[in-house]
Amino acid sequence: MNKRFAVVLAAGQGTRMKSKLYKVLHPVMGKPMVNHVVDQLKKLQLEQIITIVGFGADKVKEQLKDESLFMLQEEQLGTGHAVMQAKKHLSGEAGTTIVVCGDTPLLTHQTLESLLNYHEKEGAKATVLTALANDPTGYGRVIRNTNQDVERIVEHKDANQDELAVHEINTGTYCFDNQALFQALEQVTNDNTQGEYYLPDVIEILKKTNQKVSAHISSEFEETIGVNDRIALAQAEKIMKKRINEQHMRNGVTFIDPDCTYIGPDVVIEQDVVIQPGCTISGETHIETGAEIGPNSEIDTCVIGADTVVRQSVAKNSHIGKRVQIGPFAHIRPQANISDDVKIGNFVEIKKATLGTNSKVSHLSYIGDAEVGSGVNIGCGTITVNYDGTNKHLTKIGDDAFIGCNSNLIAPVTIGEGAYVAAGSTINKNVPNEALSIARARQTNKEDYAKKFKKD
Ligand code: UD1
Ligand code: CA
Repeated sequence: MNKRFAVVLAAGQGTRMKSKLYKVLHPVMGKPMVNHVVDQLKKLQLEQIITIVGFGADKVKEQLKDESLFMLQEEQLGTGHAVMQAKKHLSGEAGTTIVVCGDTPLLTHQTLESLLNYHEKEGAKATVLTALANDPTGYGRVIRNTNQDVERIVEHKDANQDELAVHEINTGTYCFDNQALFQALEQVTNDNTQGEYYLPDVIEILKKTNQKVSAHISSEFEETIGVNDRIALAQAEKIMKKRINEQHMRNGVTFIDPDCTYIGPDVVIEQDVVIQPGCTISGETHIETGAEIGPNSEIDTCVIGADTVVRQSVAKNSHIGKRVQIGPFAHIRPQANISDDVKIGNFVEIKKATLGTNSKVSHLSYIGDAEVGSGVNIGCGTITVNYDGTNKHLTKIGDDAFIGCNSNLIAPVTIGEGAYVAAGSTINKNVPNEALSIARARQTNKEDYAKKFKKD
């Protein structure tokens, strides 16, 4: 098979975003735009992906890690100049190079694949992916001759009135025969309104030397939008959200209000999960069958077990078992490992703690740096006092222990299996298995003393 390569253009600053963050790093549904592009390219069988970096090069490299090779474009002299930076790697290769902009996050691998196939089937030297836009403002226009063949692409800023009236736009995605591409790029000049070396000029250069140039019209303009400003960013977010949610619905997930539900692109949700309105679920979260999330919950990179219910709560980087009840208003912080059939009630914070099966922390407690066994009942207002101002310490609570309300467990400390801690205790010594520990001042009742405070 023909060798296939990709070049991703990601060196621009993105002036129109008016942001400290480089354009291609702006997230869409929680993932930087350039990652969306590269993730789709990864699904194609490519020899190599080369990303052209410039502004924010280090940050872009950090995001893409080893998913791409990188070439530095020191000065941003235009998209044609950007592709030239890949010459060293590609000009000697026979094959096809697909060029994609780092600011077109909605393109799917299916569209990219069909562009590649079309290009190779046509035997073209260049094929541009075009789309029909209701409002083509800002895009390059595709100019066809009387035979309807593509002649050239004219940028919005360079276009005359007739050209501006054209609705067929350049999506910024192309396939090229490698050798033809780099030969034509040598001839691109910067004689235009923006003083830039335009990649689309390659089309006209090839056409003029009678090399075959073709266009593949995408059926969906929406998929090809280029995100140059925050308005387009919000549009991309909306389209991506809809696409992701509809995919989950097709897989058997119920969304009570998909318009108000934000699911990241890497989230896995099994059949018969119900997502209530107002949830944001992100990162590599996996939600097992029958779970119910929300309303208004924020879940980032968690496993949520089957039939678990998470109501109005926040959870991050944690593992939550099956048939667990969380919330309302619980905060599950990183490294919580919550076993099956646990109950975490309102105003409870769990951090870096394991809880065994059937344990309950029903109200107003902080459990941090702790190992809690199974069948443990932690009463309202219990605190694992884990921090001495310098170090964090561990609290261990054995199986079937009962911690009375409003107890402070000063770590490091161990509460034995089946032990009882009386309500209001401040425990700073280990409690043996099956013991009752009371650590509070004794109550004194002074008969009739209250009367002294009352006026007649
Ligand atoms: C570009 C196309 C336009 C097309 C549109 C589609 C050109 C000249 N114009 O316009 O025809 O309709 O995309 O979205 O190509 N970049 C670099 N180095 C540079 C300049 C840009 O790497 O020197 C990168 C940018 O980071 C960006 C991409 O190339 O990811 C496109 O550049 P941008 O400035 O957004 O081009 P548009 O004006 O959108
Ligand atoms: Ca753009």
